[in-house]
Amino acid sequence: MGTTSHQGFNTQAIHAGQAPDPLTGAVIPPIYQTSTFVQDGINVLRSGHEYSRGSNPTRNGFETQLTALEGGHAGFAFASGIAAEDALLRAVLAPGDHIVLGADGYGGTNRLVNRLHGKWGITNTPVDITDLEAVAAAVQPGKTALLWVETPSNPLLGIADVAGWARIAHAAGALLVVDNTFATPFLQRPLSLGADVVVHSTTKYIGGHSDVLGGAVIVARKEFRGEELAQSVGFQQFAGGAVAGPQDCFLAARGLKTLGLRMERHCANAATLADWLGTSEEVETVLYPGLESHPGHELAKTQSNGFGGIVSIQFAGGEAAARAFAESMKLFALSVSLGGVESLVCYSAEMTHASVVGTPLAVPRNLVRLSVGIEQVEDLLQDLELGLSAARNASRQYAGAR
Ligand SMILES: Cc1ncc(COP(=O)(O)O)c(C=O)c1O
Repeated sequence: MGTTSHQGFNTQAIHAGQAPDPLTGAVIPPIYQTSTFVQDGINVLRSGHEYSRGSNPTRNGFETQLTALEGGHAGFAFASGIAAEDALLRAVLAPGDHIVLGADGYGGTNRLVNRLHGKWGITNTPVDITDLEAVAAAVQPGKTALLWVETPSNPLLGIADVAGWARIAHAAGALLVVDNTFATPFLQRPLSLGADVVVHSTTKYIGGHSDVLGGAVIVARKEFRGEELAQSVGFQQFAGGAVAGPQDCFLAARGLKTLGLRMERHCANAATLADWLGTSEEVETVLYPGLESHPGHELAKTQSNGFGGIVSIQFAGGEAAARAFAESMKLFALSVSLGGVESLVCYSAEMTHASVVGTPLAVPRNLVRLSVGIEQVEDLLQDLELGLSAARNASRQYAGAR
C-alpha cells in the first residue's frame, strides 16, 4: 500500500512507509530486531539489507514516513536529535568552515557546535533569528557553509522568516538547516519554504510519549544539492554509526501516526493557557506565537498552520518566582524535554541551557518553559493556579527580605 503526495497529512502519517507485512499480512509492520541479514551468495542480498547499521526495514519505514510528511527527498534516523545534528555537521562541513547560528536555540546544539566541532576548526556567529539584516551581515563570504535556525526557538519562542533565511543562505552558496522540532511537519514544512535540510529531535513531538530518544535529518526534494546531501548524510549515518535502533524506530513511527491529532490538542491547550496566564499579575510576559501581542505572530501565521504547544513565561517576581512556580505544580512535571502527551515544566536557564550560562546566549532567569500536554485543559489551569500562588508567595518573601 503506497502513498501519494496528494494525500492528506494524517493519511500519509499512518500509511507512508508503514505498509502491512507482505509475508504474514500483519497490519503493523514487524519490528526487525536483527543486526544482520542472511545472504543468498556472497554479497547477494535477499532484499537489499546486509547489516542494520547500513539499513534496517523498521528504520527505513520510519524514515520514509517522516520524509513524506516533511515533503523531503530522503530522511535518516539517528539515536538522538544531537546525533542527527552531529552527523549533518560532519556530512556538510570541513575544517575552516563557518556557521551562522540562530542565537536562541537548544543549548545542546550550541554545545555541539562550539565544544565538539569547534575543536575541528569550525567557527560560528550567533545571530538574532528575527533580524534578517543581522543574519546577512554575519555571513562570511567563501567561509559560511551553513545557516542554522530553530523556529519557533527554544525557549524564547522567536519566529524566524524561513524564506528570508533561505534567500540569504543561497546567495552565499550556503545551506539552510531548520530545526523543526517545536513546530513539527504538521504545523510547518521548512523545505517548502526554501530550507535545504530539516533536523528533528524525534524524542519530542514525533515520538510524542516521552518514551524514546531519537533524531532525524531530512533533505530537500530539489536540485540544489538535494541528492548530494542525501548521499553524504547517508554515508555519515552508515560510517559514523549513530543509528536509531529498530525498537526506537517502531515507537517513533507509532507516535508519528497520531501527530496531527496530538498537535491540534497541544495547540488548543497551549492557546488557552497562554491567554489565561496573560491575565495574572505574577506574569510579566507570556511568550507564545499565537498571541497577537507576540512580535512574530503575523509571520507565524504566514508560514505555519498553528502556533504549537510550548509556552514560556517570564515572572514579574524574578528568579525566585520562576523557581517556585516550576517546583510547585502537580500535573506539570518538573523535567527537561518536551512534546509528550503529558505536561512538563522546565526552568530553562539551569535545566536545558546550562551550557550557555554566563554567555550572551544565557536564558533570562525569570523564565519558565511549559510543554503543554493534551490533558483536560481545566485540570491544567487548576495546576497553574498552584504554581502561580507559589510564585506569589516567593515574590512577597523576596520583596520582604529587601
Ligand atoms: C529544539 C531541539 N533540537 C534538538 C534537541 C536535541 O535532541 P535530543 O535530546 O533528542 O538529542 C533538542 C532537545 O531538547 C531540542 O529541544
